[in-house]
Amino acid sequence: MTRAWLDAGLPVAERVDALLAAMTLEERVAQLHQVANPDPVRDAEALRSGAFGTCIVASGAFAGTVRDAGTQAASVNALQRVAVEESRLGVPLLVARDVVHGHRTVFPIPLGQAASFDADLVRRCARAAAVEATADGVRWTFAPMVDVAADARWGRVAEGWGEDPWLASELGAAAVEGFQHGRGGGGLADPDAMAACAKHYVGYGLAQGGRDYAEVDVGPVTLHNRHLRPFVAAVEAGVATVMTAFHTLDGTPMTAHVPLVREHLKGALGFAGAVVSDWDAVAELLLHRVAVDGAHAAARALRAGVDVDMVSGLYAAHLVRLVREGSVPAALVDDAAARVLALKVRLGLFEDPYTDPGRAAAVHLSPAHRALAREAAAAAVVVLRDDGALPVTSAGGVRVHVTGPFATARDELFGTWTLDGRGEDVVTIAEAAAERLGPSVTVDDGRFTDAALVAARAADVVVACVGEHPARSGEANSVTSLDLPPGQRAALEALRRVARRLVVVVVTGRPLALDGLPGDAVLLVFHPGVEGGHGVVDVLTGDVPARGRLPVSLPRSTGHVPLHHDHLPTGRPLDPDGDVDRYRDDRDPPLHVFGSSAAASDVVYGPVTTSAPTVRTGGVVTVRARLTNGGPTAVVETAQLYVRDDVAEVSRPVSELAGVRRVALDPGASDDVVFDLTSAELAHRDASGRPAAVPGTFTVRIGPDARTGPTARVELLDADADADAHDDDIALRRPADAGR
Ligand code: GLC
Repeated sequence: MTRAWLDAGLPVAERVDALLAAMTLEERVAQLHQVANPDPVRDAEALRSGAFGTCIVASGAFAGTVRDAGTQAASVNALQRVAVEESRLGVPLLVARDVVHGHRTVFPIPLGQAASFDADLVRRCARAAAVEATADGVRWTFAPMVDVAADARWGRVAEGWGEDPWLASELGAAAVEGFQHGRGGGGLADPDAMAACAKHYVGYGLAQGGRDYAEVDVGPVTLHNRHLRPFVAAVEAGVATVMTAFHTLDGTPMTAHVPLVREHLKGALGFAGAVVSDWDAVAELLLHRVAVDGAHAAARALRAGVDVDMVSGLYAAHLVRLVREGSVPAALVDDAAARVLALKVRLGLFEDPYTDPGRAAAVHLSPAHRALAREAAAAAVVVLRDDGALPVTSAGGVRVHVTGPFATARDELFGTWTLDGRGEDVVTIAEAAAERLGPSVTVDDGRFTDAALVAARAADVVVACVGEHPARSGEANSVTSLDLPPGQRAALEALRRVARRLVVVVVTGRPLALDGLPGDAVLLVFHPGVEGGHGVVDVLTGDVPARGRLPVSLPRSTGHVPLHHDHLPTGRPLDPDGDVDRYRDDRDPPLHVFGSSAAASDVVYGPVTTSAPTVRTGGVVTVRARLTNGGPTAVVETAQLYVRDDVAEVSRPVSELAGVRRVALDPGASDDVVFDLTSAELAHRDASGRPAAVPGTFTVRIGPDARTGPTARVELLDADADADAHDDDIALRRPADAGR
């Protein structure tokens, strides 16, 4: 038998067709079966018979909160050797792991990376993670998570890019490119490239009550304009795989959702990669009570478009018989197997299934990766308040005392979904403070708050490091209260009474309700990773300008969520300057606005100008503003472009993020920020997901956050309305009653 699938000179599709033709039905079904933690000895017979095509190295269903022994190239090579050299067709194994925000070098959790508003930084962190994880034999990661989440009670807000669809799209796509070593997956065959996985398709961030796994009810316009957008961006970036979510959407589990998975993702969006279920989710169709038995669950999932069954075993147990008896078309199995095999071909696994065991030592925690982790940690720090307490210095004998549960925290700085990080690698906040500010720094871990008061009284500046332990962040970890953990606010109030100057650092995996928090300065950092201590101190001391911005709105209380900046105006809009609030027991607006920072800044935003007052469909309008740093220190300003569709066929958000520009400004310097806004970026999606650009005016704003900054108007013209409209203009979709 000529093994054409081994011919690297052939197109991928030809190689896959040749392999499928050589495979038995059992072998094709096996490619759809993912097992957990196989052993090269215990599972040797299964590997020889080609009984499974992929595996996940994980500590179990809640991998994000349970550490495991990790994986090494040697153990992966042992598995591959049996699969490739002792099986009938020698099809290599595809090894997967949740490499979410780093591998041995742990970067800030994605929510922390999102605070940078910096796609390039996210891409570099993902690239470094891929270099480290592939050195351990991992070639498929279950990341990036691109769920848009506005309910901070949900623990998985930690894993995403915040509440904004545009930011989630930009950063999710950047992570895909970083993992896959390029756009469109062009670099997937590089040994240090990893197949990425956009998850959890779709709408998981809407879990009712913030309760993980709870049902989701959402209309099509919201689904297309908020929750599907990051998946469209990931598909356009060439993401190799997509993972379906656990939850039901309008009553149908996503694992069995034919309209959204097979018809929309694989049909309308043209996704040609592989779809994988979430952990045991095929079997969970029985618990959703939408399948009578395992065979029915397997059939429903495969029909919906789920190609790979993660660890339930129901595909392996039932699909051969279901095909043989005519209940499931063989074509569905063949299509799914083709998608998995195409991925293995694109990853170069047939040419090079083994990993050089010497790579890991050379790349894990390399100086370059540590430096990147430090840069990312500093960018994850958001200044919420600064009454002149920053920067912290020990000059002139200033005595600094560091206290609080996060002062000496190591593992806890990692945050959720840290599988290969090690606490001993962490630089704590206290260590970084002593290193930077000198031996005069005193430290206690906050266990004895009365002792901390004694030490605080003897200091000139107290840095109190509080926040949320990762144990209550991430999957299956929802909370009913966004307050600081028990006792911390009381400890801060006690410190407030004795400290000459109090700087509070809040370390967390989610937005918290920090209204009335004491402190002359308050900094928020989302679990910053292995270099978290250095990153926090770099910002505290002013060595690194505080550039972090809020990727989420911070609520005044738990009662205010869900909360997001791009809400609809309603028929009775809030009057930000008036007293129109809807809650009778608190103010409505967020305590801190999306995109904001209270870092000392005297940046002035000049008027917004547009290159033309109108833009035709298919056209581009340039929007710009001049920024001037009127202050005494250099800043890195994150200018944000927001658009508002003034009138459309459906009610549109009060403002939508549409661009970000970071600009470094020395004292007194000015610079323009320029955005080329296309008519497509002004369009919203209708209920079927198609772009709907209704002619009319848009308000564009360039500012430092979701609520402030100068505005301008631009009008989107209907192609017909413009006498010299060019033939290439895209005919507008106009609501029937729009009138002329
Ligand atoms: C988990 C998570 C998913 C993860 C998978 C494998 O339950 O929902 O995000 O990738 O199982 O660990």
